[in-house]
Amino acid sequence: MSWQAVVLTLFPDMFPGPLGSSLAGRALKDGIWSMQAHDLREHGLGRHRTVDDTPFGGGAGMVMRPDVLDTAIEAVTAEVVLPVVYLTPRGRRLEQSDARRFAAGPGIVLLCGRYEGVDERVLEARQVEQLSIGDYVLSGGEPAALVLLDACVRLLPGVMGSDDSATEESFSDGLLEYPHYTKPAEWQGRPVPPILLSGHHASIAAWRRTQSEDATRNRRPDLWAAHTSRSSSIPFQQQHGLPARSGSRN
Ligand code: ADE
Repeated sequence: MSWQAVVLTLFPDMFPGPLGSSLAGRALKDGIWSMQAHDLREHGLGRHRTVDDTPFGGGAGMVMRPDVLDTAIEAVTAEVVLPVVYLTPRGRRLEQSDARRFAAGPGIVLLCGRYEGVDERVLEARQVEQLSIGDYVLSGGEPAALVLLDACVRLLPGVMGSDDSATEESFSDGLLEYPHYTKPAEWQGRPVPPILLSGHHASIAAWRRTQSEDATRNRRPDLWAAHTSRSSSIPFQQQHGLPARSGSRN
């Protein structure tokens, strides 16, 4: 059985979109995962297939109706138990651990909202998990659903080579990646850091670790604080039998 991605949206044409190309696209063709995008309007009410209405209490914009959404969710979860996720800037921030959790299961149902949002009651009644991909507002949940699906699909067995699985490992210890370099060794007067040409694997590993730590400390103090509170007081170099770091600061 392939991993199942089910999307509920007013814009089913947006799927699989970019996930039809590259590694995810190959895996889709190979049947490692499957994609169904359902048009919410199929469950709309009346001649106009209405899916939304004005907000109680007043205010701008329209709100998606709970009865319409409930019918749509029921239709796709009648035969298979899948977690239902609503993409919204009000949700908890999506993390790598969420992608790992969903990828380890049978699949996911993604609810994409438009207008001002969806009626809160259907989210409660259906125990819908709410996730955000960041602190900015998109015009709808569809690009966020594509982001979440990409993060899950690349973790499915057989989608990526072993090299890329290692990349995921490196993010999972909570640090940003070290910088990468390839040929030519000097480009526009900029040499590659000489340590990378030394062939000394332990020193290269130590240098990369330092680069990861420095980038995390400088660019993402939030990740750095979480990392330092998790990791032991024994320096990484010492734990892994690597040369001690000079000029180390914390
Ligand atoms: N819908 C609109 N903005 C969003 C965001 N930042 N994350 C998830 N879904 C959204």
